[in-house]
Amino acid sequence: MVSALKKTIKDIDVDNKRVLVRVDFNVPLDGSRVADDTRIRLALPTIEYLRQRGARVILISHLGRPKGREECYCMDPVAARLSQLLHYPVMKLDDCSGADVEANLAQLPPGGVAVLENSRFYPQEKENDPRWAKELAGLADIYVNDAFGCVHRAHATTVGVAAYLPAVAGLLMETELKQLSRLMENPERPFVIILGGVKVSDKIGVIERFLDFADAILIGGAMCFGFLKVEGIDVGASKVEEGAIDVAAAALAKAKSSQCRIMLPVDLMVADRFDIAAKTKIVPVDQIPAGWMGLDIGPETVAAYIKEIKAARTIFWNGPMGAFEMEPFAAGTRAIAEAVAAADALTVTGGGDTVAAVNKFGVDGSIDHISTGGGAAMEFLEGKELPGVAVLADK
Ligand code: 3PG
Repeated sequence: MVSALKKTIKDIDVDNKRVLVRVDFNVPLDGSRVADDTRIRLALPTIEYLRQRGARVILISHLGRPKGREECYCMDPVAARLSQLLHYPVMKLDDCSGADVEANLAQLPPGGVAVLENSRFYPQEKENDPRWAKELAGLADIYVNDAFGCVHRAHATTVGVAAYLPAVAGLLMETELKQLSRLMENPERPFVIILGGVKVSDKIGVIERFLDFADAILIGGAMCFGFLKVEGIDVGASKVEEGAIDVAAAALAKAKSSQCRIMLPVDLMVADRFDIAAKTKIVPVDQIPAGWMGLDIGPETVAAYIKEIKAARTIFWNGPMGAFEMEPFAAGTRAIAEAVAAADALTVTGGGDTVAAVNKFGVDGSIDHISTGGGAAMEFLEGKELPGVAVLADK
């Protein structure tokens, strides 16, 4: 198990040390307010653990995908939300390194917390520039990576800095690695995978891996249309990602020689346009009216998928079943969320939209593990080596 092999903050002396913690505070914003603070809340155990030991906690994260310094991606709203959650004033710095940052950090008391500026304001971050990584390392005595959602990125703050400091995992990272490893190591059967969302190209690696050892893959969301097209179905104006048909064809071909079944929707909620006020109806998948689009799975599909979910002993879910953010197209995702929450199984979900769905439908407390990682969780499950994990000290 990967998690058992990596040192964490519990394995080293952090007392009164300066600790640079890479967190994944890449959270959705609503103007200058954090719209969903899940990732911030989940980093609190590591921050509190360090503070209780008198460590000075220096947090660094990216936010969004800015092209240079874009004010709307500054970390100020994140630092403000963190202060509220900690009930403690957090020092927000407007840079990541340099004399001013060093001078400010020198004022940080034991147990103090600082948030550096968005690491992606600096091209050196994505370039994994060793000089910049060394500058960041110079701010601290220890490097901690608690940003599971970013471990698939070989950037300066996830990989580079680890070359210059003792590098260990945070508590969230430890939980993520442990829970996701459980899925891949002797999962109780039946093992059911639920995949949705738009992009099938992001998921082909995981589909191919799961075809080797899961029992069923239930497909929903817009990614189902590539599969339906391969089956010769006219999907009307439904969204089909470029390249999806090749990917779906490869998966369906592999499924023919696999024990694992790929299940596709048998009916859909279709609409005459992508709009909350659109005309809608439920149709069998092969009867989508010309110019209409599928925006959710239909009730027969829901019933078939729930049957699989009820029988499952291990479930992994990534990606919504439809455009659940609009009420007319939320029923499929809601039903799947409720069924997963009620299942007598080890349940793991991952990916930003799926986390938003389980939160929206109020079932977050009934899922065994909600991964903060989207792409990172998928690459982990594909069996890829994650650069941000590889650089952490082994036990
Ligand atoms: C995520 O949201 O999945 C992580 O924060 C990584 O973000 P990125 O895809 O922009 O690298």
